Amino acid sequence: MQKPFIFGTAVKDDYFIGREKEILRLRANFENGINTILMSPRRLGKTSLVNKVRSTISTDKILIIYMDIFSCRSEYEFYNKFSEEILHQTESRFDEWKHLVTDFMLRLTPKVSFKIDPTNEYSVSLGISPKTHKPEEILQLPETIAQKKGVHIIICIDEFQQIGEFEDSLTIQRRMRTVWQHQQNVSYCLFGNQKHLMENLFLKSSYPFYKFGDLIHLDVIPTETWIPYIQNRFEQNGKHITAERITQLCTAVENQSSYVQHLAWLTLLNTEQETTEQELQTAINELLDETSNVFIEQTSRLTEYQLNFLKAILADIHNDFGHGAIRNEYNLGSYSNIARIKTTLLERELITARKDGIYIADPVLKEWLIRMIG
Ligand SMILES: Nc1ncnc2c1ncn2[C@@H]1O[C@H](COP(=O)(O)OP(=O)(O)O)[C@@H](O)[C@H]1O
Ligand SMILES: [Mg+2]
Repeated sequence: MQKPFIFGTAVKDDYFIGREKEILRLRANFENGINTILMSPRRLGKTSLVNKVRSTISTDKILIIYMDIFSCRSEYEFYNKFSEEILHQTESRFDEWKHLVTDFMLRLTPKVSFKIDPTNEYSVSLGISPKTHKPEEILQLPETIAQKKGVHIIICIDEFQQIGEFEDSLTIQRRMRTVWQHQQNVSYCLFGNQKHLMENLFLKSSYPFYKFGDLIHLDVIPTETWIPYIQNRFEQNGKHITAERITQLCTAVENQSSYVQHLAWLTLLNTEQETTEQELQTAINELLDETSNVFIEQTSRLTEYQLNFLKAILADIHNDFGHGAIRNEYNLGSYSNIARIKTTLLERELITARKDGIYIADPVLKEWLIRMIG
């Protein structure tokens, strides 16, 4: 039986909707060797979008490599992942890439281990270390392979914000940029979560990755795109939901992709025939229940000042927190205190800075906070 809705993992096929413009733009970047930086809050659809574009490009001239570096905690952990994925995804057979980059491999011989499973898939562990390779050599590996194979390689790095967390991160970023910007046959698509970390990497003019490529801010999927998708899934399950009710549903979670699919699923479960106001409300309550553990964890160690700051936002204050009347009414402390509160809450991803001010980052967290402290 086909699941009606998917949330939490990247989506494809007929679970993937909309994004026509972004697909065209990203595709054009891929086909023309333009570097891309893709940013959005988490679970809006970055991974799904990149996968989608990957799946639409089918020429021998372009080779797309995808890697997720979420688990990398240091420079060399990253280099190992980087080379393993590149080697693995450029040649399906171990002996082939062994020849492709003989010199690169030679120095690893005692360390390389690889497993071949019955379907002839293999996994490699290279054991690269500062003793075996200089960073520049590793960063240059895709260009070497692209030249030898006569292809253009696109390297997609998911959860790229991790780089900003490495020790001595700026030096590492400088190394990457220096090597990567001269490559003729390789381009990069760097994307990740945690807005403030990504912005630190890419939007600060003194930082190495500033203006590295085309910057795409992924927006939410609009309600009119969700309506036919959700209505279809309901029909397939013998239920109905009106466009108005779907609009309400989308608004309740500010159109955040993963939440829309999650809430649509809970709503479907609660619907007897045609979704009523009450049934949608029950589904929203269930969504809050299901997510509350995470929110309790996220907010349990907040100080009184930090909670006060959140209360101000819930009261629709998004700017001028330092204004005397606001500072007093919400008891936010001194100017420097307010700056500290902001930084901490941004780092913990409880709040987010939009063009017109500071907001609660997550729509379900916002609803939860209204019930707890609002
Ligand atoms: N284009 C899309 N169409 C439908 N649902 C989507 C789409 N993009 C994302 N989603 C929803 O959001 C969830 C998270 O998507 P994902 O690509 O993993 O986001 P991100 O990489 O930004 O964290 C998916 O499980 C799905 O529920
Ligand atoms: Mg992702």
